Amino acid sequence: MPDVTKHGADPEVTRTILQYLYARPSAAETIRRALEYQAQGHEGFRWQHVRVMPKALTQLVLDGLIDRLDTPGAWYSVTNPLEAMEAVSRFFNEQADIRRERGHIGSSQLPPLPVGVPATLFDSVLGYADVKRQLFLALGTPTPTHVLIHGKPGTGKTLFMEAIGKLPGALFRHADTVTKSGLRRVVTQDRPRYLILDELDKMSLEQDTILLELMDGIVSAMNYNESYSEAIDMRVFAAANDIRHLRPELRSRFLKIPIRDYSPEEFIAIATSYLVKNGVDARIAELVAEGVSHKSRDLRDAIRIAKMARTEEDADFLVRTLGQEAQV
Ligand SMILES: Nc1ncnc2c1ncn2[C@@H]1O[C@H](COP(=O)(O)OP(=O)(O)OP(=O)(O)O)[C@@H](O)[C@H]1O
Ligand SMILES: [Mg+2]
Repeated sequence: MPDVTKHGADPEVTRTILQYLYARPSAAETIRRALEYQAQGHEGFRWQHVRVMPKALTQLVLDGLIDRLDTPGAWYSVTNPLEAMEAVSRFFNEQADIRRERGHIGSSQLPPLPVGVPATLFDSVLGYADVKRQLFLALGTPTPTHVLIHGKPGTGKTLFMEAIGKLPGALFRHADTVTKSGLRRVVTQDRPRYLILDELDKMSLEQDTILLELMDGIVSAMNYNESYSEAIDMRVFAAANDIRHLRPELRSRFLKIPIRDYSPEEFIAIATSYLVKNGVDARIAELVAEGVSHKSRDLRDAIRIAKMARTEEDADFLVRTLGQEAQV
């Protein structure tokens, strides 16, 4: 019989939270304050109690660290308090150890994040905590891990690529504009640390062979009629809708991350937050997000409708007619 009286923290959940804190160290202090406040006998907390902006709490809800309580006003509670407590305490202990070893105080930069990669790198992308975690881990490997994100249109893939494109030493290209010789030249001359290829499925088959070589860490070139090759240290990050038509040998060189569909609840949270952040009236934003969540669940549809609607009735009408073109 399972022992229900000795209910300890689930180590797997603790580990997941800990990994999250490595990627977003600022969340550790928020969770610590929230737990402290709840430990005083409160069922939940508000943003004032943890001293962060409400937006940061929305992000933590989306990432599954805290829940929004079903009470009037914006009250929250820590989702897995036992595990969170364990993770936060280990996090701060490890941080103290690292500082001691380094012999200085004050740095909050933790080892799992590679040099030059800020914890806020993917903050422009809402949700997708597991994709972010995989990307951070891939960015931190000692030898290159190449990553290919794939999924339906309008799911934030380009947003992920643009975020990586902001890292020092990154080179961003639309794959359909890339040529073999152009890529060889730029890699030889500029030595990018990250090569970002959006829409990899649009790259022509004649051009993609160079990638195999680059991904294996080699670039070859001609010099005074003599060919030579050099070792390079470059990571490729790519995005695509459909990866079935890529060469198998190209596909196999990537860590493939599928972007799964949003649940209706996730879609509503993400679309509402996106629209409000972009100046759409909150009531219209909610109406559109809710309506589109029952239909295409494509953020671009929500953005388009919000752009067109001048009143709540317009929004309602546009949501109702959404998708009718498919039945023509
Ligand atoms: N998770 C998200 N967080 C914030 N914005 C998002 C998210 N997903 C999509 N968007 C927004 O929706 C629009 C479309 O996103 P994006 O261009 O990244 O999609 P995509 O997956 O690259 O689509 P495609 O496959 O058609 O290229 C953009 O305006 C983007 O800012
Ligand atoms: Mg795109």
